[in-house]
Amino acid sequence: MPYSSRALPGPCGLRAGWRNLRALRADLPGFLLELARTYGDFVQFDFGPFRSYFINHPDLLHQVLVSDASHYFKTKVTKALLRPLLGEGLLISDGDYWRRQRKLLQPAFHAARIAAYANIMVECAQEAMRDWRPGQQRRVDHDMMTLTLEIVIRALFGEALSPAERDAVGHAVDVGQKQVGDAFKMVFRVPTWLPTPANLELHRAVRVIDDLIDRFITRYRQTGQDRGDLLAMMIAAVDETGQMNNTQVRDEAFTLIVAGHETTANTLSWAWYLLATHPQAEARLHAELDQVLGGRPPTMEDLSYLPYTEAVIKETLRLYPAAYVTAREPTTDVVLNGYRIPKGCTVLISPYTVHRDPRWFERPDAFVPERWLDDLDKRLPRLAYLPFGAGPRVCIGNAFAMMEGRLILAMLAQRFRLILPPGQTVATNPMVTLRPRGGLTMTVESRTPQIGRSATA
Ligand code: HEM
Repeated sequence: MPYSSRALPGPCGLRAGWRNLRALRADLPGFLLELARTYGDFVQFDFGPFRSYFINHPDLLHQVLVSDASHYFKTKVTKALLRPLLGEGLLISDGDYWRRQRKLLQPAFHAARIAAYANIMVECAQEAMRDWRPGQQRRVDHDMMTLTLEIVIRALFGEALSPAERDAVGHAVDVGQKQVGDAFKMVFRVPTWLPTPANLELHRAVRVIDDLIDRFITRYRQTGQDRGDLLAMMIAAVDETGQMNNTQVRDEAFTLIVAGHETTANTLSWAWYLLATHPQAEARLHAELDQVLGGRPPTMEDLSYLPYTEAVIKETLRLYPAAYVTAREPTTDVVLNGYRIPKGCTVLISPYTVHRDPRWFERPDAFVPERWLDDLDKRLPRLAYLPFGAGPRVCIGNAFAMMEGRLILAMLAQRFRLILPPGQTVATNPMVTLRPRGGLTMTVESRTPQIGRSATA
């Protein structure tokens, strides 16, 4: 295929490489936003001594994630960092192995199946808010993390863990995420087999989750009892080559725990932050919830009558997409937009930068849930909005997450407002996912649903 011999724009060279590294470590989404604003939709840059590419136009994203997806794998760096946690789980496997696993797991995420998890989500939210008292200051980011972890555990294993076990799992996931997040930003990394204090902590964390998953696998294999949970479905799933072995089930279960709770928790934390700083949007949300639910817990069937609640989650995912960056590497030399990109290099994609692009979104930095109410999705260029990725590797849990976000918000926002200290703004802390920097401490205020009010109030 013919390709351009012109150099792509972008900050390259030794000096720029180290400068980029510093900027990227300090604020990766901010760095990428700046890169796009300065150099355009297709940029090359050096990351320390390594050449990388950044694409920021929906058409280019479509080419990499959808039309030419089979030529791009997850990067070696991503795999090396996540493998100690996730083994060969869906998030980092590739090729035929990934295809088989995705096919085996997909039925567990069909709409009819995930509808069965709505009750778990509402019950967990009800239990969580039992501890909430007016006037309390709460670490809302921790609350959301505990809540979504509880939900994914119950969906996965069909039962709750003891609080001590759940906290141990939460801590283990946290340790893993932090170390992976830190290592992502390094050029030279300590191999995970070296017995450094950090590595030993990581291995201990992994063992906690391994033991837990093993216990549930053993129990299921002994009793054969299917309680409709994800684990039972994974163990029972079969294709022409047979069933998954214990290691494969373990890898996929670990992947669902990691991929399936922090993302949703961060989305909810940002939603509370945005609602607290946009009283009109908050009032409109309350009006919708009061009118449709009148104080009762939401059900799956209610969700289609809660368009504004959905718009709040969508707009939150636009401004703060939990999975704010992803990367691919071409498996052969490829031509992208007329440029030759060598096999094995890193191509970065950032939903965060695309979502804040004024070409696709009016007032891109403003929180305006209303923009989603008149079918904006249908009018947007394809892949201008991609909080769950796109193409064959699109998030397998996207319907689960959208249902979870809406049900939790609907449950909690009926009963409580969360107030931010006056004048406080919260910056992003880009780890593996986009967290609120310094956490999110808010004051609980109780509210009573006003039955019979109009949703446009
Ligand atoms: C708001 C919440 C969530 C967001 C923003 C999110 C985002 C994403 C994104 C962007 C990807 C694609 C990554 C890439 O292309 O490199 C992805 C993949 C994935 N997500 Fe999610 N996710 C969320 C919730 C969930 C949940 C609840 C689960 C499971 C219960 C889940 C499981 C997965 C898995 C297993 C993959 C890998 C899929 C594959 O490669 O075949 N995610 N997610």
